[in-house]
Formats: sequence, C-alpha cells, structure tokens
Amino acid sequence: MPVITCIEDLRLLARRRVPKMFYEYADSGAWTESTYRANESDFASIKLRQRVAVDIDNRSLVSTMVGQPVSMPIALAPVGLTGMQHADGEILAARAAAKAGVPFTLSTMSICSIEDVAENTDAPFWFQLYVMRDRDFITRLIERARAAQCPALVLTLDLQVMGQRHKDIRNGLSAPPKPTLANLVNLATKPRWCLGMLRTKRRTFRNIAGHAKGVDDLSSLSSWTNQQFDPTLDWDDVKWVRDQWQGKLILKGILDPEDIEPAIASGADALIVSNHGGRQLDGALSAIRALPAIAEAVRGRMEVHLDSGVRSGQDVIKALALGARAVHVGRAFVYGLGAMGEAGVTTALGILRKELDVTMGFCGLRDVKKVDRSILGARYVLSASRGAPRRGCRAGSRPARAGSPAPRRRPESRSRRAQGSRNSRRRSRRCSRSRRPRPPAAARAWPPRCAAARAPCAAIPAR
Ligand SMILES: Cc1cc2nc3c(=O)[nH]c(=O)nc-3n(C[C@H](O)[C@H](O)[C@H](O)COP(=O)(O)O)c2cc1C
Repeated sequence: MPVITCIEDLRLLARRRVPKMFYEYADSGAWTESTYRANESDFASIKLRQRVAVDIDNRSLVSTMVGQPVSMPIALAPVGLTGMQHADGEILAARAAAKAGVPFTLSTMSICSIEDVAENTDAPFWFQLYVMRDRDFITRLIERARAAQCPALVLTLDLQVMGQRHKDIRNGLSAPPKPTLANLVNLATKPRWCLGMLRTKRRTFRNIAGHAKGVDDLSSLSSWTNQQFDPTLDWDDVKWVRDQWQGKLILKGILDPEDIEPAIASGADALIVSNHGGRQLDGALSAIRALPAIAEAVRGRMEVHLDSGVRSGQDVIKALALGARAVHVGRAFVYGLGAMGEAGVTTALGILRKELDVTMGFCGLRDVKKVDRSILGARYVLSASRGAPRRGCRAGSRPARAGSPAPRRRPESRSRRAQGSRNSRRRSRRCSRSRRPRPPAAARAWPPRCAAARAPCAAIPAR
C-alpha cells in the first residue's frame, strides 16, 4: 500500500484502480482544458503571509454552511456517476462525510438513488438538482429529496448545455461500461473494482431509470439526458424551484457579478462560485479569480461558497481569505473514493482538515471564521476579474480581525508612477504602430495594478 500524504497521492492511486473511462471522466475538463488547469494554477499563484510568535494553540475549524454546523467549512460537491468510481460510491462518500462532520451532496446523475443513500446512511445529505424539460419529473425529484429529509437543495445553473469533454467521447463513456474489447482488456486490470461492481445491484442512474417517463433501460438514457436538460432555464424557473422547496436553496455555477442581483432576488440562501470544475465553458475565469468580484457584489446578502480547483487545505484558506464562507470539493474526494472507497474519502477529508488547520496556524490564526484578506500579502491579492468594479481590487476590503495589523499596502512612489505611465505610453505607441488591439488592462502589467487603488493588487496575470 503506497503512503498517502496528499490529494495527489490519492489521484495516482485512483488512476491505477479505476477503469480508464471513469478515471478520465473525473480527471478531465472541457475542450482544451484551459479553465480546468487555471482552476488549480490560479490557486497556486496566491501567496500567504507567514506570521510568528502568535498564540496558535487550540485552533478551531468549526463553522456553519447555510446554517448547518460543520466541523470544517468544506462540503462534498455533487459528482455524477460517483457510483462508477467505486461500487456504491455515493453511499460510501456520504458515510465518510457524515463521520467527518461535513455535508455530502448527491447528484441528480448519481448511480445510487436518493432512497439508496437515505436508507444506508444516518446523517442528512444535500441533493443537487438539474432542471429538465419534464417538470413533473423535477417536481417528483424535489418531493423525493424532501421525503429523504435533505436539508438543502443545490440547484446547478451551468449545465443546460454540455461542454465537450474529448476523453469521454474517445472512451465511449457509459454506465455500466459496454463490453467492447478495449473495455474488457482494461477491466481485466481492475479486479478490485470489478469485484465491487459484481457485488452491488447499483450500476445505473437510479434517480432516473424507472422514475422518468420513457426511461426504462440505459440505452435510451443518454439520449434522454441530452434531450431533457432544459436550455430555456431562466431566473423565473429558479423562482419556481424556490417556491417548490422550503429548505435551504444553494445556486451553483455563478461566475459573473452581473448574475448576483437576480440570484439574490430569487430568494436563494447561498451561491457557489463555480465553473463546474472546468468541465463546461472552456476559457471561463478560474473560480478563485472570479471570487473577489462576486463576494464584493454580494455584500453579505447571501452566503458565498466556492468550488473548482480545491486540492489542499491551503486552497481552502485562500478561498476563505478572498470572500468565501466555505468550499465544496469534487475531484479531491472522488480520487479518494476511487483509490480506497470510504476509507479514501475519509483520508481525503483528513488531509484537507490537517492542511487547513496547520496552515491557519502558520498564518497566525486560531479560528477559521476569522480568516480574511489580511492573511494574504498586499502584493498577493487577486485582482478584480474582468468586468468587476474597480473597488474590488482593494486589499483588505473585508473587515480586518480585531487586533490584527491592517493589510499592508505599499504607497507607490512618484518615480514608480511616472515610470509606469512612461511604460504605458510606450506600450500604447507600440500597439498603435502594429495596429493590434491593446490587450486588456489586467494583462499589461506585472504584477497587475489597480488604477483606483494605485497599489500593486494582483498576483495573477490575465491569460
Ligand atoms: C466527474 C465529475 C462529475 C460531476 N458531476 C456533477 C453533477 O452531476 N452535478 C453538478 O452539479 N456538478 C457536477 N460536477 C461538478 C462538481 O460538482 C464541482 O463543481 C467540481 O467538481 C468542482 O471542481 P473540483 O473537482 O476541481 O473540486 C462534476 C464534477 C466532476 C469532476
């Protein structure tokens, strides 16, 4: 058994143990995968301030998410076909989440059904909803989630059309896999997985098969799914869902500040800044880059969560510092599940917890609820994303912790400003000579500068 030290170790083990088709289903993004990669690399670009000689004994990670107490501000994101990463995957992940004191979210496109998870776990779990054309089916899904006593509904808004994932096409993704020669050869190298699947009856989309009209067997399911995701979904539909659901409502897939006012008007309790883990709009901003402008636009009127790219406790603390109340993890737990089943999800959550706890200590903090921008050096705060209000660039716009030093903002000297404007005139001459359009402001300077604040305010150059 290899030594597991981090989420990457779990990924490598999952790659060995999960059939290629399902491992690659998880480990892929849409088209060129540029957003998928940016989700992780943008996190890596943010730097933390190390503090010393501060009492960091008795640290606390407890928090709440939509009013629910959590042992740390992390939830398991909805992941379709989780039960294909490991037999009964949704049940195992839900059990691990319950033991860790964090929410588990069941996908509409899960293998184990709402009823399967409810019958085989003790703790309440959240349910994720895709809106489909068949509104009777959606109403029944919501009723089933209510009957299972799910306290929160996560409404996904960014998958009314599907981003193309090349690997899924090449692999002929299906659940269960079709008995082609390539699949059979690959399955022969995954005896553990095969044994688990032979022992379970849960091998198809059990929230849907037998519940939706005209879907009795798998062969019609994929075409049914393609036809059923409703591209007309708009804010009125979100309000319709709100009216149907009395529990907490979380909107998933918000990436632009212009979507904030309708999101708030819909009556939802929280939103998740997310690009679906880079699986939908290739070329979209990374979630962590989009976060500051969204948190600023929300102004505390609803909870802001984030997913996409979180692979470590350091990533979690960076998201909290930039305005998220909590994060959701997809692949980080899926790799654990594929690697070692329930124990793997427990290991993944344990890794994130330890990294978050120790990193908080290094940053001189004892309470996760007090994490704010002051843990990021002024030079290492993300710039406002494209289209965000200028004031979003200001470091320390969240209230500083009592007794903590104000975030450092180095006043820019006159000579540096003069040099900056000389450089900008030169660039502008060069651009007009070559008749090329000028690149966006954020892409022109390193580190990018916020004109309003007149201070270096970003670590991540626009791509
Ligand atoms: C394999 C896979 C399947 C997913 N299926 C769903 C789904 O059924 N519903 C949904 O709302 N999001 C789904 N997502 C998106 C996740 O909920 C979440 O937004 C994403 O995984 C976060 O990025 P991360 O994997 O980098 O943590 C899926 C993600 C992955 C990786």
